[in-house]
Amino acid sequence: MSLWVYSALAAIGLYVYHTVNVYRAHRADQAHDKQNHCLPPPSLQNKWPLGFDNVLEALKATSEGRLNEHLLSTFRRLGPTYQQVLAGEATIMTIEPANLEAILSSPDVWGIGMRRKITLPMFGDGIFTQNGEAWKHSRDLLRPRFSHRAYDDLEVYREAVDGLIHVLSEKKGHVVDLQHLFFRLTLDVTTKFLFGESVCSLRSSNPEFEAAFDVSQKIVASRFRFQKLYWLVGGAKFKASCKTIHDFADNVIRRKLERAEQDPDAAGDDFLCRLIQDCADHDALRGQVVNVLTAGRDSTACLLAWTFFHLVRHPHVMQKLRDEISELDAGRSELRRSHLSKLKYLQATLKEVLRLHPSTPLGTRTSLQPATLPTGGGPDQCSPISIAKGTTVMFSQYSLHRRPEIYGMDAAIFRPERWESGSAIVSEDPTHQKMGYMPFGAGSRTCLGMDFALTEAAYAIVSMLQAFPSIMLPEDEKVELVGLEKQTVTIVLRSTDGCKVVIG
Ligand code: HEM
Repeated sequence: MSLWVYSALAAIGLYVYHTVNVYRAHRADQAHDKQNHCLPPPSLQNKWPLGFDNVLEALKATSEGRLNEHLLSTFRRLGPTYQQVLAGEATIMTIEPANLEAILSSPDVWGIGMRRKITLPMFGDGIFTQNGEAWKHSRDLLRPRFSHRAYDDLEVYREAVDGLIHVLSEKKGHVVDLQHLFFRLTLDVTTKFLFGESVCSLRSSNPEFEAAFDVSQKIVASRFRFQKLYWLVGGAKFKASCKTIHDFADNVIRRKLERAEQDPDAAGDDFLCRLIQDCADHDALRGQVVNVLTAGRDSTACLLAWTFFHLVRHPHVMQKLRDEISELDAGRSELRRSHLSKLKYLQATLKEVLRLHPSTPLGTRTSLQPATLPTGGGPDQCSPISIAKGTTVMFSQYSLHRRPEIYGMDAAIFRPERWESGSAIVSEDPTHQKMGYMPFGAGSRTCLGMDFALTEAAYAIVSMLQAFPSIMLPEDEKVELVGLEKQTVTIVLRSTDGCKVVIG
């Protein structure tokens, strides 16, 4: 029999298997639905079996740099909660605060689902890939290390930020892609924080490591779109880039262990030392290192890049920031975290950047048992929705943060002033107030590095504005409506064309 016949039989087998499963689940859920007055949400119709047209549509939008806008327009068309079939899996999409609250506050009902299998080759075993007791243990282990007392004096950031200012000083008058440099800045800060010493990538870059991180993240993002069929995406390139990342982590761990052996007193009391004491086996140690390294590098770099992306396109915001910073009674070397948190307009600007361009634009959870979502079902989209065990729910912070019901009719516009009086949420619904803004997640798995990241970003911005009297948009750079710029979505959200500026 030819390969084509085998493939056709396999596809038919998969289709029948899926149909039988759907039917059985449907029958089992009917009684539960009736009892709880549950009704299904609107459906995104698929034209091809198993919803492969939806997968292709998402992949096409991703390659064209408009995945987030594609999802946003689907939410606008179908409502804040809808269902779709994605690679054979019935999936719920939601940006409804009440549903998000129900999901994110119940880790015993909602787990990370396929995230573990999809990301394991890159991340290994660590806080992002764990559920249940293992995750609780990691969170308890890591949380104390994020106390702001560890970086109140900003020492952990200083060497890297000085390095950035030095690199930029040498490029005065030229077009510079800040995004590229911010990924090095945050790598240097995170390695200093984690390992007690920076890899100093701003001084001498490690292109192989940087490329490996980018490749593996892109592949991980594609695997997410295929859900249970994630294993279709991967291959030798993925393996090789994961190996480069693991080798990097292994080298750092080995160096630390050698130093501790030579002189136990000089080993220090940094993040890695604490992890070494806790993790009995090498793979577990490496997993935690890669997990926190990825979290620390990428999301903060994206925040900084999107901040300058907006600042050079909104010179009046840049000027207001400069005015606020000029009031500081401390130079760069005397700055402390307490100075930064008093800069209200800077804090508002960071909030606005994370509203429109949340570093982590998409999230998922999978039900560990039959569950109910409070709203989104039926013709008026207000009835509860019944969720079968094993169903994946995806949510889009990007689309949530652009809902006019929550932020008003100018929700799509970059306007830091909306945060000046505290909350920018115009809706009076308490659930909207609580869950309408969640760039750092919400509930039990809320980001542990939130304050660390905001302090890092604020310090880098203040330092750059103090050091350079002019940071401008290059003449031939595009200025488009916010959201029309090309976006690259991997695990994080970056600007596809970078963040080009001229430093003066
Ligand atoms: C602008 C910067 C950042 C953003 C927007 C951000 C966003 C997020 C989000 C949305 C989550 C929740 C993921 C989920 O629901 O599963 C998360 C979790 C996490 N973040 Fe961040 N993050 C940032 C910076 C950082 C930094 C700098 C670190 C560490 C150095 C960090 C460490 C973590 C950790 C350890 C978790 C896992 C929490 C858990 O699963 O219990 N983050 N972050």
